[in-house]
Amino acid sequence: MSKQILDFLKRSKDYLSGEELSKTLGVTRSAIWKQIQELKNLGYDIVAVPHLGYQLVGTPDRLYAHEVSQGLKTKFIGKQISYFDALASTMDVAAQLGMGKAAEGSIVLAESQTKGRGRLRRDWLSPKYKGIYFSLILRPKILPAEASLLTLLAAVSICQAIKKVSDLEAKIKWPNDIFINGKKLGGILTELNAQMDEVNFVVIGIGLNINNDKKSLIASATSLKELKKESVSRIELLQEILRKIEENYLVFQKKKGIEVIKKWREYSFTLGKRVKVVEHAKRLEGVAIDIENDGGLLLKDDAGLVHKVMAGDIVQ
Ligand code: BTN
Repeated sequence: MSKQILDFLKRSKDYLSGEELSKTLGVTRSAIWKQIQELKNLGYDIVAVPHLGYQLVGTPDRLYAHEVSQGLKTKFIGKQISYFDALASTMDVAAQLGMGKAAEGSIVLAESQTKGRGRLRRDWLSPKYKGIYFSLILRPKILPAEASLLTLLAAVSICQAIKKVSDLEAKIKWPNDIFINGKKLGGILTELNAQMDEVNFVVIGIGLNINNDKKSLIASATSLKELKKESVSRIELLQEILRKIEENYLVFQKKKGIEVIKKWREYSFTLGKRVKVVEHAKRLEGVAIDIENDGGLLLKDDAGLVHKVMAGDIVQ
């Protein structure tokens, strides 16, 4: 019911009387008062004036499921949202949900993580209310080897959403780091639940620095706030990322990797550059010349030999 009251308050430009609300919702005025207290506890700034009623004067900067859903207009991505104020990692909860009956497109969202993880067993710092940290469950009909394309798809979707919401040009450092102005803004971690020839489900974890202050970031990292010199709406950006993922995923389901790779090239920060790639114990150095339709990076070494790298990390 508090969600209904919130909707009424959001729609009303004037005060809403407790009596009116109680009549519309068919409950007592004291029940309305209780729900108003609940909304206040969630951070909604609601003023109550005797004889006039209630008015919403401020909405908290939280990624509450009902806020993210409002106006999202996707078909399946983000339709189910599990929201947490704090979690160890959204990856683990999403994996558990994936093993159950969670629908494709369900997301697990946290305002902070105590054990956020990145690729190659790195930690992912997830300070409270500063960033966007979520994991998305997909159930694609693909081979395990094709799953890396979904990481590229997510990276492209993030760059498109950042452009739309903040007008900044984000780039992708192979395979899946989001960079702006040469600094890391975010990353993607994809974990698979699969058999040899079949994917059961994929969990795509996305972490982005949004409203982190410059002084709280390491030198190689950046945030949208640092770049824009003002806070950015986490809700708007998250909604746009979900919309773009859905758009690109629907194309992916029909055309596999071709369109994803085409878009990835547009946003690449790596192609044409001289790079060093570490893949397990192997080190390769050369110019990144292209990316193949399976997401592998082609590297031309100084002897003119072309190597294909499927996983790893670019070090400078
Ligand atoms: C990387 O750059 O290495 C990937 C970072 C991925 C971080 C996100 S935050 C949400 C999800 N939960 C995690 O523990 N990790 C991912």
